[in-house]
Amino acid sequence: MCKDKRFYITTPIYYPSANLHIGNTYTTVAADALARFKRLAGYDVFFLTGTDEHGQKIQRIAEEKGVTPKEYVDGIVAGIKDLWDLMNIKYDKFIRTTDDYHIKAVQDIFTKLYEQGDIYKSSYEGWYCTPCESFWTETQLLEGKCPDCGRPVEKAKEEAYFFKMSKYADRLIEHIETHPDFIQPESRKNEMLNNFLRPGLQDLCVSRTTFNWGIPVEFDKGHVVYVWIDALSNYITALGYGSENKELYERYWPADVHLIGKDILRFHTIYWPIMLMALGVELPKQVFGHGWLLVDGGKMSKSKGNVVDPVVLAEHFGVDAIRYFLLREIPFGSDGLFNNETFIKKINSDLANDLGNLVSRTVAMIDKYFEGLIPAPTAKEAIDDELIGLALETAKLVEKAIDDLRLPEALSHIWTLIGRANKYIDETTPWILAKDEAKKERLGTVLYNLAEALRFTSVLVSSFLPATAEKINNQLNAEHISWNSLSSFDGTSAGTKVNKGEVIFPRIDVEAKLAELDALREAQLKENAKPSMKPLKEEITIEDFEKMDLRVVKVLHCEAVKGAKKLLKLKVDLAGEERQVISGIAQYYKPEDLIGKYVVLVANLKPVKLRGELSQGMILAASTEDDSKLFTVSIPGELPTGSEVR
Ligand code: MSP
Repeated sequence: MCKDKRFYITTPIYYPSANLHIGNTYTTVAADALARFKRLAGYDVFFLTGTDEHGQKIQRIAEEKGVTPKEYVDGIVAGIKDLWDLMNIKYDKFIRTTDDYHIKAVQDIFTKLYEQGDIYKSSYEGWYCTPCESFWTETQLLEGKCPDCGRPVEKAKEEAYFFKMSKYADRLIEHIETHPDFIQPESRKNEMLNNFLRPGLQDLCVSRTTFNWGIPVEFDKGHVVYVWIDALSNYITALGYGSENKELYERYWPADVHLIGKDILRFHTIYWPIMLMALGVELPKQVFGHGWLLVDGGKMSKSKGNVVDPVVLAEHFGVDAIRYFLLREIPFGSDGLFNNETFIKKINSDLANDLGNLVSRTVAMIDKYFEGLIPAPTAKEAIDDELIGLALETAKLVEKAIDDLRLPEALSHIWTLIGRANKYIDETTPWILAKDEAKKERLGTVLYNLAEALRFTSVLVSSFLPATAEKINNQLNAEHISWNSLSSFDGTSAGTKVNKGEVIFPRIDVEAKLAELDALREAQLKENAKPSMKPLKEEITIEDFEKMDLRVVKVLHCEAVKGAKKLLKLKVDLAGEERQVISGIAQYYKPEDLIGKYVVLVANLKPVKLRGELSQGMILAASTEDDSKLFTVSIPGELPTGSEVR
């Protein structure tokens, strides 16, 4: 096979913490449809997906759950793979950034960039957004919050390695300008050039020392590689770049398309190409940033309680209905909107009415008038030409739309053909032809044309709705289902026995279904509202407990610790002895709120220094799992200080 008949497509690798919803399944469903289409059109396809498993956020969640980060991600990754199986995603490889070969290749990439002088050591001070794993400068913040996700950021300073991005900026600008397909859609290209590249690139901080769940920098083990350097590399390490066996890399790189959501365009069209330039690797042919699927209240998020679960939708409507909605409703380059009502109405109109009816009417008439055997087309009339011409034309239009990644447009062409075929039934009125024995041949021709139009439809939809195409093929007993078979309107063999089957998309009672889904959502919200807690620690004996000496103390004085936002310095009275305690409760209490309070001290805890201040014990406090609320444990009445708490 020649090299230009190869097609390498990737999705982003998903965060295991991402809580996959109907929106973020879009990238993978769209990539799957494209990969299936190219396979059908005879390309040698490689479709890559996977998971992006390192970073501080994963480490924090794992700590909170009392498991190792690897144990935590292993469980989630299995669930992601199950979801892709459910959605009928046929990938060629699933990469995990915790895979050994990936770790080794990333370490080699980092070392190479360091040795050739593109990465250097310095120190970093800035604002860090943990959920986005991104550092921001003061001026980049929006109202003091992360400009990407709007969440609070933390001040952080650390020794770090930096990548000399600016060195490659001019070359990248030139590449973007001379390769109009590199960033698609067009509007996103201008956004990258005008907002990031032309104003000048800052060097990128590419290592971290404040956590260790990441790929260690090989020559400086206290540092881990910045997650985006780690993650982006997956597109080449998955093919064997940096390993002994580079066969796949040589066969498929450069990628034909990195399909991604618009939110991660900056990483893919600036950092990634610059990394590749520095490594001397050819750039991908295209990065396509698709729009988002929004719900009525805007973005889907757990906190808003508006997350739409693909597993629940699949149970109620089937996977192909979801695939159809996603691929048809997210317009080229902009956002789409999801709500249950529009979704159900779309299923009823496009899938049950248009497609479903065409299948059942055609097969039922062949069954009724020709004992299930597809008749030969022996009595053509001029009216047939329009349907035949449109079918042949549709194949070309769909191919072109897919080449331009205009998936909704491709589906819209197919539905025009389906609409035309339904109209052909109304125009030719087979049930009237059937009443006249002299018109039997004409009736046979009409039904042949319908069977053939349906075969076209089934081949055309097979990349988008694979299970539906299979059902249509089963009913038609169709043999010719290759893309090439769409070059002429005669792929159906007369005499084939059709199999009248079940209705492929039953009509849905909109009101009843909406009520059912609402009830389900209510129940789910109630379930989510139930309090949850961290798993209990290992059992201890009363002797273990008695080792702890808990005493009532009175807060005499309290002030903030300079330079440490979270810490308060308390002076407490313990039966006449004054002790100093440093406590991480500054976000919850003003110093004056605590003075005069009777609180509980772990009095026999070994003293430590926190931020250079001596802490002689620990004040007990209770907090929510996410630390959004905290209260010190206090004594409601007056007790002599030094009283035991048991
Ligand atoms: N781990 C990074 C990608 C690294 S690639 C080297 C990441 N992961 S993610 O899990 O947060 O997102 C995965 C994909 O889902 C992204 O393409 C993202 O844009 C997409 N989507 C997340 N929410 C979405 C919608 N509501 N609608 C459509 N796509 C959305 O980013």
